[in-house]
Amino acid sequence: MTEPRRRESLCLDERCDWVIHADNADVLPTLPDEFFRLIYIDPPFNTGKLQRRKEIATVRSREGDRVGFGGRRYRTVELGTTSYEDVFDDYLGFIRPRLEHARRLLSPDGTLYLHLDYREAHYCKMLLDQIFGRDCFVNEIIWAYDYGGRSRRKWPAKHDTILVYAKDPDRYFFDQDAIERIPYMAPGLVSKAKAERGKLPTDVWWHTIVPTNGKEKTGYASQKPEGILRRILSASSEENDWVLDFFAGSGTAAAVARKMGRRFVMIDRNDEAVAVMAKRLGTASVSYVDSRFRCLAVQTDESEQLGLLP
Ligand SMILES: C[S@@+](CC[C@H](N)C(=O)[O-])C[C@H]1O[C@@H](n2cnc3c(N)ncnc32)[C@H](O)[C@@H]1O
Repeated sequence: MTEPRRRESLCLDERCDWVIHADNADVLPTLPDEFFRLIYIDPPFNTGKLQRRKEIATVRSREGDRVGFGGRRYRTVELGTTSYEDVFDDYLGFIRPRLEHARRLLSPDGTLYLHLDYREAHYCKMLLDQIFGRDCFVNEIIWAYDYGGRSRRKWPAKHDTILVYAKDPDRYFFDQDAIERIPYMAPGLVSKAKAERGKLPTDVWWHTIVPTNGKEKTGYASQKPEGILRRILSASSEENDWVLDFFAGSGTAAAVARKMGRRFVMIDRNDEAVAVMAKRLGTASVSYVDSRFRCLAVQTDESEQLGLLP
């Protein structure tokens, strides 16, 4: 048997983007200082559960138990489930060294977006104040949505928090003109011209979750909507900039980076995440490697197989 091809480090000059199947703790120390204009991360939220999503599809069937348009019958078939562990005894101990690397890896005018929910957001705010300095805090973005079950014992939690930190508060890149404008809530209260132009979003973002039957859906548990990433990439990166997501999941950051002409490095330790990314991003301009930067053979069709290339 021949030895699989192996690299000592990523050659980020090559004309490809990267998906790394590894624990990010092993890879982050090997990435070059100040290389990334934008780092977006959406780490596990420490819900204490196994995050699981069932993927289903409806197919025409005479015996189906669901009746659709024109009386046609359908049945539901299960395509599979994706999952990852979301339990940490010491969440801050887990995230701290990774955030320290994030700061080192940001370019001098770079920005970090840390996506969290209410469980850990406040602890991470204090941690980031320590690591970056309080003066580097830029925003607390609230992403509000309206989906899923509602508690009867408290106000239903229907938002995520995205903490934004600059490497340098005097230099960070922010392109207000590139941000897609949104409709005014009360267009009748502003001039016609203003209403037509729309307004800039604030730090509260109303945006649907990934629609369950939409084109964008990959079936990966806790996949984030492309619209949220598009807004982040528009404001905090330019064409050809490098974007890093080291809790990549289904690769939403990569999918948006590609559509917007940015380069990317994605890292995830879960087999299923890499398989979903392979289907979503293809292999034409993306290199898939393991933690020792050995090339992986990935399949971009339904069979979710990962293996080392000989
Ligand atoms: C909330 S999901 C990210 C979802 C992603 N933003 C998307 O849109 O699909 C968190 C991901 O972090 C990955 N993860 C957790 N711990 C990790 C680690 N130590 N190294 C690399 N990936 C990790 C999990 O496998 C999971 O895919």
